[in-house]
Amino acid sequence: MRTKVVIIGSGPSGLLLGQLLTNAGIDNVILERVSRDYVLGRVRAGVLEEGMVSLIDRAGAGQRMHAEGLPHDGISLAFDGRDHRIDLHGLTDKRVLVYGQTEVTHDLMDKRDASGALSIYEAGSVTPHDFASDHPYVTYEKDGLTLRIDCDFIAGCDGYHGISRKSVPETAIQTFEKVYPFGWLGILADVPPVSHELIYANHPRGFALCSMRSQTRSRYYIQCALDEHIDDWSDERFYDELRRRLPAEHAEALITGPSFEKSIAPLRSFVAEPMRFGRLFLVGDAAHIVPPTGAKGLNLAASDVHYLFEGLLEYCNEGSAAGIDAYSGRALKRIWKAERFSWSMTMLLHRFPDTGEFGQKIQEAELDYLVHSTAASTALAENYVGLPY
Ligand code: APR
Ligand code: PHB
Repeated sequence: MRTKVVIIGSGPSGLLLGQLLTNAGIDNVILERVSRDYVLGRVRAGVLEEGMVSLIDRAGAGQRMHAEGLPHDGISLAFDGRDHRIDLHGLTDKRVLVYGQTEVTHDLMDKRDASGALSIYEAGSVTPHDFASDHPYVTYEKDGLTLRIDCDFIAGCDGYHGISRKSVPETAIQTFEKVYPFGWLGILADVPPVSHELIYANHPRGFALCSMRSQTRSRYYIQCALDEHIDDWSDERFYDELRRRLPAEHAEALITGPSFEKSIAPLRSFVAEPMRFGRLFLVGDAAHIVPPTGAKGLNLAASDVHYLFEGLLEYCNEGSAAGIDAYSGRALKRIWKAERFSWSMTMLLHRFPDTGEFGQKIQEAELDYLVHSTAASTALAENYVGLPY
């Protein structure tokens, strides 16, 4: 088999890139390790920047997103027992759309199915080859056979644990990493959200986040120790702890109900440089991870896809390699600014074991300055709604 672009991974990065290429008449094949149901079973974040919304529209997969997504004009920072609203739209003239990543993935899968583009699920041992040459190819196993796809380019959209980054010679890649000394214990429950906007809470007992998937489905998180076990957290214990970390008005208003998803996720910052190795490009989580405090993970995948798609389009239509040559540098400039923002929000809102009394006073002064300074609030807002591509 031959195609222009082999995309490894059928997550948001791979599906969005694949649809943009297909719509532009650039042939591509997606190779995915697990089943489509497994991909759709993943629970991820759900705050979309306007740039991502535009890309999903350009992919022709935005109908349900606009029908069911919730436009949000602000967020709240809760500390010292009260809310402090950050007026995202008033400060930036932009807003975010609350719409689950699972829904984005579903919509892009449906669009790809309708377009007739080829996705191969449950493809084993996917391996990129000869990407330092002008004749790369990818092998994979399916139904007991080892198969090969010759191509012009390989897009490694296979996430943090994927094969693409691991296929790059160690001497050709540099990684940067920070692991945080806590995790997020999160639940999903079909109960109305406690507030119409997201609440990021800094409390002496730890961070909490009140989010949502719809007007009837809530997503809640609390900061927890890395050695916590999910089996030790009944719904009742979770809600009690969440109430303790929220201002009284929200604690009293919280509507609880049985969770249907409960998990603990570690937090890390990670970047791999560069993101291009000959004919192989790393995209999305394959190249970078952010702590979810800034809601940037999915949105960074989108800007990577934007830069790579524009470069591939220029190459295929005009024969110019300028765009693909610039991909890594352009993507990394935006990635590092999102890494900075996600790190700063994590440092601002979480309790760290080794902060000390001085560090705690600094965190409190930072919060006080942030919510009482238009300049500081605007800086947070413009990062939260998304810096320009
Ligand atoms: N071969 C084929 N597919 C693979 C391989 C492999 N060796 N390894 C991983 N994959 C698949 C995974 O099964 C997954 O479906 O690649 C896909 C990667 O998807 P994501 O991990 O979702 O990464 P990405 O598409 O970049 O989306 C980033 O997802 O994890 C969240 O917080 C992250 O919101 C961000 C978004
Ligand atoms: C979520 O809804 O899962 C969510 C929202 C905002 C974040 C992180 C997660 O910063």
